[in-house]
Amino acid sequence: MQSNVKDRAVIVTGAASGLGRASALAFADAGARVFAVDLNEDGLAETRDLAKGEVATFATDLSDAANCQPVIDKAISQFGYLDGLCNIAGILKVMPLAKITPETWDLIFAVNVRAPLFLSQAAIPHLTGRGGTIVNIASATAFAGYAYLAGYTCSKAAIVQMTRSLAMEFIKTDLRINAIAPGGVNTPMTKSIEFAEGMERELFMRSMGVRPTAEVEQLTDIILYLSSPDNTIFHGTCLNTDDGFTAG
Ligand SMILES: NC(=O)c1ccc[n+]([C@@H]2O[C@H](COP(=O)([O-])OP(=O)(O)OC[C@H]3O[C@@H](n4cnc5c(N)ncnc54)[C@H](O)[C@@H]3O)[C@@H](O)[C@H]2O)c1
Repeated sequence: MQSNVKDRAVIVTGAASGLGRASALAFADAGARVFAVDLNEDGLAETRDLAKGEVATFATDLSDAANCQPVIDKAISQFGYLDGLCNIAGILKVMPLAKITPETWDLIFAVNVRAPLFLSQAAIPHLTGRGGTIVNIASATAFAGYAYLAGYTCSKAAIVQMTRSLAMEFIKTDLRINAIAPGGVNTPMTKSIEFAEGMERELFMRSMGVRPTAEVEQLTDIILYLSSPDNTIFHGTCLNTDDGFTAG
């Protein structure tokens, strides 16, 4: 998949770990100017140390909506312009219905949906008029029921619809906004899954694909392509990158 992100200034959230880190490193490797954002300051520093190219870091808690505008302001003062926003930060809570509290539900939505919305709101005035891009990370679980993931699956379905709705709102501009919906990916998020007492492992595992979990490098090429001016066709799309998970 050909992409050309050289010199493009791109914000990557969730850049301290997993898919966000891999994306930040891939952008930097391809000559982009990366503004790496995450809650985890130490993880961001590791990402910066691993990078072969330009990576500036900014630690902030995206569950607070008030922290979104400052992310864009800092990126603009760092680079002077902005070409891309990748909303990759996310949280997963595996829990039975009885254990979901209003606070947990709100936290999932604050990180997985509200932050991408308010980061987009602040970024779009800078992105339009220069072929800017937004890439959101949804999930295959947006399209299939999944035991013990009611909050997460709803948040991922919401980001698919947010992607489509903003794509329609900005269809007369040169902005391109898309999402990808991965199946299982080999990251700290998947490794951290724990089964609380009373949860039936079988109900959770039955939704797993027969194929192995993906590696982050299989997804970063697609994220770079969707962030590239070479992408002249995808807009408002959610690409299923789930190796068959939602096919049947
Ligand atoms: N791992 C999978 O199987 C999988 C599948 C589909 C979609 N996804 C999505 O991919 C994205 C990346 O997940 P990952 O697997 O790399 O997980 P990860 O846990 O390795 O990385 C998530 C990152 O988000 C950051 N983050 C969490 N809350 C934050 C907050 N309040 N403010 C700022 N940063 C915060 C974390 O610190 C972490 O660095 C997520 O949106 C996730 O939902 C993952």
